Amino acid sequence: MSQGKRVGIVGAGNVGATVAYSLAMQGSCHEIILRDNKIDVAKGKALDMSQAASAVRSHTIVSVAEEMSDLVDCDVVVITAGSPRLPGMSRDDLLMINAKITKEVVLGVAKYSPQAIIIMVSNPLDAMTYVALKESGFERSRVIGMAGILDSSRMAAFIQEKLGYGGGQIRASVMGGHGDDMVPLPRYSTVAGVPLTDVLSQTEIDEIVDRTRHGGAEIVGYLKTGSAYYAPAKSAAIMVDAILKDTKQIHPCAVCLEGEYGYSDVVSGVPVMLGAKGAEKIIEVTLDDKENKMFAQSCSSVTGLIDTLKSNNFFEGE
Ligand SMILES: NC(=O)c1ccc[n+]([C@@H]2O[C@H](COP(=O)([O-])OP(=O)(O)OC[C@H]3O[C@@H](n4cnc5c(N)ncnc54)[C@H](O)[C@@H]3O)[C@@H](O)[C@H]2O)c1
Repeated sequence: MSQGKRVGIVGAGNVGATVAYSLAMQGSCHEIILRDNKIDVAKGKALDMSQAASAVRSHTIVSVAEEMSDLVDCDVVVITAGSPRLPGMSRDDLLMINAKITKEVVLGVAKYSPQAIIIMVSNPLDAMTYVALKESGFERSRVIGMAGILDSSRMAAFIQEKLGYGGGQIRASVMGGHGDDMVPLPRYSTVAGVPLTDVLSQTEIDEIVDRTRHGGAEIVGYLKTGSAYYAPAKSAAIMVDAILKDTKQIHPCAVCLEGEYGYSDVVSGVPVMLGAKGAEKIIEVTLDDKENKMFAQSCSSVTGLIDTLKSNNFFEGE
């Protein structure tokens, strides 16, 4: 259990509140501070969660920041503030709305929790991670996007469903941006160490890859009025935990590339070693020609979003 650690969560909606609940149940930190424009809703959820923490004998306190200035001295801040992706709305439609929200929130984090590590969750994820990096002025190791753990977990769940066995033993690998052109890597996916290609046909693997790429939309299609939050929240909580406990474990996360994989000034999902200092190391895995092309396509989509922000003068004056 990490004593004295404080986690801020901005956006206490479906994802943010579930991250908080997960951390509170694990006793991952001493204090969780929720911040949302809907202050009373945040207060109600904080009380409810504090009582749940009490029920499981967790020492975690859940409180509310009425203003960004109350979100002080956090070790980690998870940002989920924004509009969720609604049916028929692409991640890209959210670009300008969520970029403005992210900017406002990140300026507050940089001012009141200047030592924090930021975990971005709001969509479009890679572009929002880029916005958070530029607006915070933090070094890139302290601004990390959550998507790869989620996308890999989705792929693993689909593999398990297709196989009918292997639950808990599947390691799926997904790189690239958190868009429809993400890069699932069956070649680096295994069931108890057995390569996926030895237990599934190419057609079955192709179906899993396609379903993984549209995993978020599949859930939106059912929920109708919102998007997935249990797996996204758990994935973000795994990142918080790895940072607070300084585990040095490798997780797929979105970071700004500075020459890795041959790209610069673009955020993309790659294997990252997480520790107390954030994204402490970026691992470069070998990609074959086909995978490299997919990764290039994915990076180019994210660059397109960043260029849209730039052409709308979003970063002007910096
Ligand atoms: N990265 C991923 O893999 C992933 C997965 C799921 C959801 N998401 C994204 O996460 C975000 C949150 O999703 P959700 O389902 O929790 O949505 P939600 O609508 O339930 O919650 C968003 C919350 O943000 C709050 N908010 C808006 N502007 C704010 C501001 N300026 N300051 C503080 N709070 C503010 C809203 O009041 C709301 O409570 C969305 O952008 C969604 O697309 C990303």
